[in-house]
Amino acid sequence: WILIVTAQTPTNIAVIKYWGKRDETLILPVNDSISVTLDPNHLCTTTTVAVSPSFEKDRMWLNGKEISLSGDRFQSCLREIRSRASDVEDEEKGICIRKQDWDKFHVHIASYNNFPTAAGLASSAAGLACLVFALAKLMNVKEDLGQLSAIARQGSGSACRSLYGGFVKWVMGNDASGSDSIAVQLANETHWDDLVIIIAVVSSRQKETSSTTGMRESVETSPLLHHRAKEVVPKRILQMQEAIQNRDFPSFARLTCTDSNQFHAVCLDTRPPIFYMNDTSHRQVLIINCIEKWNRSEGTPQVAYTFDAGPNAVLIARNRNVATLLLQRLLFYFPPHPDTELNSYVIGDKSI
Ligand code: DP6
Repeated sequence: WILIVTAQTPTNIAVIKYWGKRDETLILPVNDSISVTLDPNHLCTTTTVAVSPSFEKDRMWLNGKEISLSGDRFQSCLREIRSRASDVEDEEKGICIRKQDWDKFHVHIASYNNFPTAAGLASSAAGLACLVFALAKLMNVKEDLGQLSAIARQGSGSACRSLYGGFVKWVMGNDASGSDSIAVQLANETHWDDLVIIIAVVSSRQKETSSTTGMRESVETSPLLHHRAKEVVPKRILQMQEAIQNRDFPSFARLTCTDSNQFHAVCLDTRPPIFYMNDTSHRQVLIINCIEKWNRSEGTPQVAYTFDAGPNAVLIARNRNVATLLLQRLLFYFPPHPDTELNSYVIGDKSI
């Protein structure tokens, strides 16, 4: 027999960034963060997990290619899920796995991203969240999403936020065990559905400095990171929560852009400096200038921008009309072309 579960999880984009860990093994952050989860129809990971007595070892394929599962992060997610597994019975198929026997079975995992892996589009977030969710379903884990988020967090920090839709906060927590470092939903998908997210997908190349290495170096060498975590982010989180609650776009845009710029300032404050926008820095600056100018000329912000640990620009328009204008401007000033490494524009949220 074979038992199969398939799950689909969208990626998330941080509007208040997570950058820096206080515990590298448990993946505990130095500050809270807030993100918006994209529409599940775009930019998502689809993962199928299967268990069968005929499987001789755990195996995984990512986008059709087999990858190693020896990494500590994957192993801790699998261990955590297995330790919470329950009985699974299916008389018709002759399946009966007792909770204490899950250790004796191996899993096969096939995962597909419909967007570039490790190019700064938070593919690890969608991937690990999806894996944890699918394994939890397969093994009949009865924990709630908050508890599953604490497991996904141990695979990749930002993954914990992808278990919920809408606006999500990753509460950093205080406990050394990490039990209170979980994701909570601030508002569901329908709360602020005027917003339209457009992502300029720059290149499918892997980024040069992974988030994990980058943030380790920032924690070790950047005084700005520590100031940000202690003095800046706690206030910003409260302001962002209020902006989301009140659907206050001007405050939302100001906080999103400022936080993205401070995150990249922390990267520059790191020794040696990290240039996540290096490949296409000219266009990044032009896009930032273009949005800043537009927002000033309208007297109130129309579009927010944010850049993660990669060269893709994420633009958030206040409504569909603005999104249409934005897309027209982007296509005119920055048309996708093989020479420019600008591949395409992807609508990450409600379509326009
Ligand atoms: C810039 O979650 O990829 O996207 O926990 O080491 O796996 P690890 O890092 P990861 O870092 C994401 C960093 C970010 C900001 C964010 O998503 O909050």
